[in-house]
Amino acid sequence: MTAGTRTTATVRARGPLHGTARVPGDKSISHRALIFAGLASGRSEIAGLSTGDDVRRTAAALVACGVAVERAGAGAGAARRATAGGRAAGARSGAATRGADLSGPVLVTGRSLELLEPERPLDVGNSGTAIRLLSGVAAAQAFLTVLVGDESIHRRPMDRIAEPLREMGAHIDGRSQGRYAPLAIRGGDLRGIDYTPPVPSAQVKAAVLLAGLRAVGDTVVRERVATRRHTEELLALAGREPSVQHEDGSYVVRLAPGPLAPFAIDVPGDPSQAAFLVVAALLVPGSEIVIENVYVGPGRAGFLAVLERMGGDVTLVRRDATTADVVARHSPLVATEVRGVEVPDCIDEIPVLAVAAAFAEGTTVFADAAELRVKESDRIETTTTELRRIGVDVEPTEDGMVVHGGRPEPAGTLSSHGDHRVAMALAVATLAAGGDAPVTIDGFESVATSWPGFLETLNGLR
Ligand code: S3P
Repeated sequence: MTAGTRTTATVRARGPLHGTARVPGDKSISHRALIFAGLASGRSEIAGLSTGDDVRRTAAALVACGVAVERAGAGAGAARRATAGGRAAGARSGAATRGADLSGPVLVTGRSLELLEPERPLDVGNSGTAIRLLSGVAAAQAFLTVLVGDESIHRRPMDRIAEPLREMGAHIDGRSQGRYAPLAIRGGDLRGIDYTPPVPSAQVKAAVLLAGLRAVGDTVVRERVATRRHTEELLALAGREPSVQHEDGSYVVRLAPGPLAPFAIDVPGDPSQAAFLVVAALLVPGSEIVIENVYVGPGRAGFLAVLERMGGDVTLVRRDATTADVVARHSPLVATEVRGVEVPDCIDEIPVLAVAAAFAEGTTVFADAAELRVKESDRIETTTTELRRIGVDVEPTEDGMVVHGGRPEPAGTLSSHGDHRVAMALAVATLAAGGDAPVTIDGFESVATSWPGFLETLNGLR
């Protein structure tokens, strides 16, 4: 499935889910691993990258800025260039890695914090993480970077990164007084700032800290609500561990500028993708599945806590401090409330948690989640619209939704609204609703942004 081609998927309800599955490498970690490796002084090895289009866009952008991204060779430590359409990924063509195979280990030769000016706009496709993190990188480079994306990206707010990066000394322009992409960034001499983001956002934290690597003086980010810690984790892996403290109720990260060392990482499975399989197993009677090697570190396991509160039988078999095999068994669910500091820890999982709530006993409330309105789609609007089509009594609110649990009925046709997480949540809802008639989900190609093999994995669990 290629971007721009609308496709539908036909999903049929069927019997219980059984067996063992793996999910793609974590998307948040994958973007950061590639970017930090591209800035490091030397060659890093990354295995288990997300195979979605979002992460390929980040790889392509780095290549366009002179970073070499190569497939690790099968023999004798040799490196083969990952090629797409016959062109070497090491060549500085943004298109070169669009189709590159990131499924095996890759070697990334970093440029010691100093990139080359890209010849063309960097196209991030559908990826908010790519555009915001790459803006932080570009802010520290003394050249012009233009960042573009798809329709959804051009609707999403960029002032949240543009404002602090301007305060650091970068010149950033864009549509509507610099609030929306396309963004034009002329980076340069930056100074460290002490910044408190107005919204909890790991992308903002990452953008500011990435810029801070080349700033004069320390850069401080104060989060009133701590967000996922992948930037801090990757910085530590690259030998530049930031200091992390709790001050006056805030989570405070302080970073000194300086070089990054190359590193090796095996990216663990993406908990946000595991959530779809977990909810499917909880809802379809008789199911029992294991999802191997899932990241369950700080800021990412919130959906598991929510599902446990709802009565979900989910067990973690720990592999190490931040990864586990997740075992999920069918369970009757009850309603809960999801609000406050818990929200950033499960923000991407709310569409599929809303599906769980639709089948639970009682009324579930999602609140303090206005950020859902500025994701790949307005997820309050799109999730409630589609849940209504399967007969769910659900009300959108300004900052969330109220879901009255019941017995949803399968619908003939549903729409992803171009949003990968809505598409996958609707596939889960279809399995749970049962019935014999096939359900068509329009715009299913959107799953390729994060998980091209989603349906195959789901169908493999029988
Ligand atoms: C991400 C942070 C979150 C999340 C997104 C990935 C990241 O966005 O929704 O899918 O990798 O930093 P915000 O930073 O906008 O909350």
